[in-house]
Amino acid sequence: MFNRLEFLRNEINRHDRLYYVEARPEIGDADYDALYRELEALEREHPEWAAPDSPTQRVGGGPLAAFRQVRHAPPMMSLDKVHAKGGLLEFDTFVRKQLPEEVWDYVVEPKVDGVAFSLLYEGGLLTRAATRGNGEVGDDITANVRTIRSIPLSLAGGPPPEVVEVRGEVYMTRAGFAALNRREEEAGREPFMNPRNATAGSLKQLDPREVATRPLEAVLYATGAARGVDFPTHGGLLQRLADWGFKTPPWQRLCVDIRAVMAAVDELEALRHSFPFEMDGAVIKVNRRDLYDRLGSTAKSPRWARAFKYEPERALTRIREVTVQVGRTGVLTPVAELEPVLLAGSEIARATLHNADEIARKDIRIGDAVWVVKAGDVIPAIESVAADRRTGGERVFVMPAACPVCGGGVTRLEGEVAHRCVNPACPAQLVNRLEHFASRNALDIRALGEAIAEALVAQGKVRTPLDLYALTVPQLETMMTGDAETGLRKFGKNAQTVADALEAARALTLDRWLFATGIPNVGVTVAENIALAHADYSALADSPLLRQVVRLDALEKEAELVNPRSRNRPSHTDEERQTRHEQYLRICGEIGVIGDGFVGAGLARKKPGTSLPPEYIVDIKVEAAKATLEFFASDYGKAWTTRMGELGINPRSPERRAVATDAPLAGMTFVLTGTLSQPRTVFAERIAAAGGGGQDTVSKATRYLVAGPDAGGSKLNKAKGLGTEIIDEAALEALLGGGTPPRITPPPAPPPKGDYQQQELF
Ligand code: IVH
Repeated sequence: MFNRLEFLRNEINRHDRLYYVEARPEIGDADYDALYRELEALEREHPEWAAPDSPTQRVGGGPLAAFRQVRHAPPMMSLDKVHAKGGLLEFDTFVRKQLPEEVWDYVVEPKVDGVAFSLLYEGGLLTRAATRGNGEVGDDITANVRTIRSIPLSLAGGPPPEVVEVRGEVYMTRAGFAALNRREEEAGREPFMNPRNATAGSLKQLDPREVATRPLEAVLYATGAARGVDFPTHGGLLQRLADWGFKTPPWQRLCVDIRAVMAAVDELEALRHSFPFEMDGAVIKVNRRDLYDRLGSTAKSPRWARAFKYEPERALTRIREVTVQVGRTGVLTPVAELEPVLLAGSEIARATLHNADEIARKDIRIGDAVWVVKAGDVIPAIESVAADRRTGGERVFVMPAACPVCGGGVTRLEGEVAHRCVNPACPAQLVNRLEHFASRNALDIRALGEAIAEALVAQGKVRTPLDLYALTVPQLETMMTGDAETGLRKFGKNAQTVADALEAARALTLDRWLFATGIPNVGVTVAENIALAHADYSALADSPLLRQVVRLDALEKEAELVNPRSRNRPSHTDEERQTRHEQYLRICGEIGVIGDGFVGAGLARKKPGTSLPPEYIVDIKVEAAKATLEFFASDYGKAWTTRMGELGINPRSPERRAVATDAPLAGMTFVLTGTLSQPRTVFAERIAAAGGGGQDTVSKATRYLVAGPDAGGSKLNKAKGLGTEIIDEAALEALLGGGTPPRITPPPAPPPKGDYQQQELF
């Protein structure tokens, strides 16, 4: 029986190697499966014969909480790069100088574009695998690496060395990568950028069962620590690695001198796209490993090797048309539709143009002949226009004024390069809106993250965030979700959590719901300010207050224009001047009514030091007020309000913050002058904390002037002139404590000291 078990393990390992390492399988899937099942059955019957390197033990254990750290000894170095043949000559000159009396040769092999890693075998058994990390310390990814079938769990071929650490690269073939991305896209997930990213992302998975589904491969080409084994040459090392059952670089050349190296580098470049994986250069290593110590290394890389990087490939083609894609945040991305061209082994028919600025910068026009590059990654880009090939028939691209997905408006926000669709109902933006709706400062539905938002949208279950309320728990439960970290899985238990959080959210206050609504320009603070000024959600829809905010802003702008003293529009005749003056007064009057109303309601402060428009600082920003009014007036906003009503959700205004209502100094404005017992900042903070406001200069709006004993000058005089109450520090203390201050007599005329010793705060 035990013999049979041994036989099965060896046989399966042999077939694994034939299939995964040597790509020359001897048996079909069905026969292989039969062997595998027989082994599984025997192991179940005889748990005492369990072995860690049995082929049945590749995927074991549940997800990890985190990766342990592994220190590399010796460190995992990188390679110095050369980009031209001259660099190779310099490399050779250096080697000759170091080793004048030696004979050496070089090995050239492909530079595989993957993720560097290391494998430790103790007594022939794989005991640890680690990522390169920063070269000194990496992650322990043993459980993940065991799932890679081309990596032997125990070394083949004869008695193993006591310890050997082998190093190489984990990668994905282009075909494996494409299949993985197809799977990702079908599951509604964002595809990986390129095979390297997909490999790195896969190795970072905490659940080895997920890793087992990823098409990972590994090639080994170096060693770390070793005991009980010696490799005098690199060629010998590669041979030994192959004997142990590893995949080694699929192309190797032993070169007698640097000229042969150059020829090999060219030969490899020509073959570049015939390899099934991405390769970004050639690696040139001195063959004789016994000379490595004498050649030494820099802090980062050995002096006995170089990487020769190949130039990204270019192809010339023509832009047939420019189309526009709408991303999840509503960003419009122009895409060049190309005459298909072969580049780096694949046909390219599209390339991103990023944004309108980029198109203008490169002066790219529809019909242009362009150079397309593919620099190691999968996304091709337009490098430049072949301007000398212009015929005059090229057309300049203009960003559409309407969103190509929903027909909604398109704007370009200040300071952004991107054009965005502003329609809140745009289907392209739904995932983002859902995430925003569920975010912490909105309704805080924690179980509803990116993955479930994507799944809900992909499955057509929601068209606006409020549709979440129509979902049943069983519907949510059976939903398949996933992301790069967790892989595809049933939403299951989280469904109830989402449903509970949605129910709890009904009780949240207006500020949270307003923020959750996702109106442009309405952030957390603005939402709070608007919410404090409205009774409930339904009061927002046609809010007179928000209209007044907009009106005040318009009036202040108008006032600036008609201001008789404005330099913008000098008036010519007396009559004209008179009319403008009257107009100005009228506008100022209206501004005062609205503005003072706001100040009284605690929604605005007067700008210190001015009594001319614009003189009010309103807590609700005009852009936010406009956007809110626009939202509720839009079809989407109307439908949204109706739906809120149907759901019986009408969130109420939050309690005013303590400082704003029953604070001792609520509604009072202070000016400080003279020397006080503590810096003015201290008093300023205390006044603010007690609900009071501050100003730089005394005005009609000033309630108290707090004067130090040495106070004098303009503030004091103005306060006296206006009849403002003047108090001392003790009186301020009394006020801060909630009492009433005695009105004090102004101090006798002090020496004119000025306020320059003190930092101006108010
Ligand atoms: S030798 C001490 N050989 O390139 C250096 N590296 O830039 C040992 N790489 O981190 C590396 N193919 O991830 C070597 N055939 C190859 C390689 C190779 C790819 C990667 C490796 C290394 C990086 C250096």
